[in-house]
Amino acid sequence: MDLYEAIKGRRSVRKFKSDPPPKKTIEKILEMATWAPSGMNLQNWYFVVIAGDRKDALVEITSKGYDHIEPVLKDVFADNPMVVEFTRKFFKRLGGAPVLVFAYYEPTKERPETSIQTVAAAIENLLLAAHAEGLGACWTTGPVHVAREINEALGIRDKTLVAVIPIGYPDQSSPVPKRKPNRVMYEGF
Ligand SMILES: Cc1cc2nc3c(=O)[nH]c(=O)nc-3n(C[C@H](O)[C@H](O)[C@H](O)COP(=O)(O)O)c2cc1C
Repeated sequence: MDLYEAIKGRRSVRKFKSDPPPKKTIEKILEMATWAPSGMNLQNWYFVVIAGDRKDALVEITSKGYDHIEPVLKDVFADNPMVVEFTRKFFKRLGGAPVLVFAYYEPTKERPETSIQTVAAAIENLLLAAHAEGLGACWTTGPVHVAREINEALGIRDKTLVAVIPIGYPDQSSPVPKRKPNRVMYEGF
């Protein structure tokens, strides 16, 4: 897949088929994530990839993140309550995705902002690689509100959760959001 085509064609997918993607494909996507740039080349990302019955138990926890984002969601989408309703349904089962990726960073002597950007770069690589493999995914930070419970369930300590990414074969065609104009300033051309 052409890189520009992948960048423009990637969409957030929030409804998935139940068939699990091959483990090899998931491994490839995660490998691509780890080829991202990182602050001071520390590569201090850490991913926990969950499928099967374990995944269902974790979705029970991540779904609680919705309560924390609902007030802001209702405010931002005051004129489009369908988005709020759709998001509520999505969070219940994370779209029925067969695979969940929990994206963490290991704290370093660098500022947390740097580590967050490091993990964000890796997540974008992951999303593009998933798209290139014919899979859908969605970057979600809503579940981070219940990070403590998630970490407990996963047995994770001394790492910071940045996002949760459900992955699977898409069972929807996502709308293409329009680009906002005037977001770049040029000088000296
Ligand atoms: C930092 C970040 C956090 C996000 N958190 C959520 C989330 O909690 N729930 C959700 O449904 N989508 C989430 N998204 C996905 C955005 O809603 C989505 O990228 C945006 O609507 C644009 O759609 P597109 O990805 O199809 O281009 C998040 C995206 C980013 C980059």
